[in-house]
Amino acid sequence: MPIDPELFRAVLGRFATGITVITARDLDGRDHGMTVSAFSSLSLSPPLVLMCIGNEATMAPVMRTADTFAVSVLGDDQEALSRRFSGRLDDRFADLTVDRGPLGNAWLNDALATMECRIVARHPAGDHVIVVGEVHAGATRDGRPLLYYRGGYAHLER
Ligand SMILES: Cc1cc2nc3c(=O)[nH]c(=O)nc-3n(C[C@H](O)[C@H](O)[C@H](O)COP(=O)(O)O)c2cc1C
Repeated sequence: MPIDPELFRAVLGRFATGITVITARDLDGRDHGMTVSAFSSLSLSPPLVLMCIGNEATMAPVMRTADTFAVSVLGDDQEALSRRFSGRLDDRFADLTVDRGPLGNAWLNDALATMECRIVARHPAGDHVIVVGEVHAGATRDGRPLLYYRGGYAHLER
């Protein structure tokens, strides 16, 4: 028998993560973005990262047709961006100034780190799809990360 769903959530909630916003464009070139904590480094050589996208998310069909995506790792003063990119907004980019990576995807201004990737694999897994990207560009700034822990936002004390 698989684990009880409530216990499963409680167990996973004890795994603290950073928070990213994944951005990609649809076939019409329109920007889409979504808050994602299920992000991980995967391989150093080649440089690979992965993320898990829920099949019901509006980002899921975008990630099926996109060739590339960008990742913005949020800094500890960017909780509002996490809420914006996980909330119910018609256009999550409205009134938001963004930079573009070399592959053309939106990078969130002042993110702690940004990277841009080419999609090299998609693996269906349960109610999510694992998207694997090869990293082609990146940038960092100094600062502290925004964290997610037990269903809420958290901050490093030092
Ligand atoms: C902190 C945080 C982390 C999240 N991490 C993920 C994730 O890793 N994968 C995912 O599919 N959804 C994740 N979500 C939920 C999506 O951001 C949210 O369901 C999605 O943006 C809903 O978009 P839609 O209305 O466009 O479908 C997360 C939400 C928050 C607030």
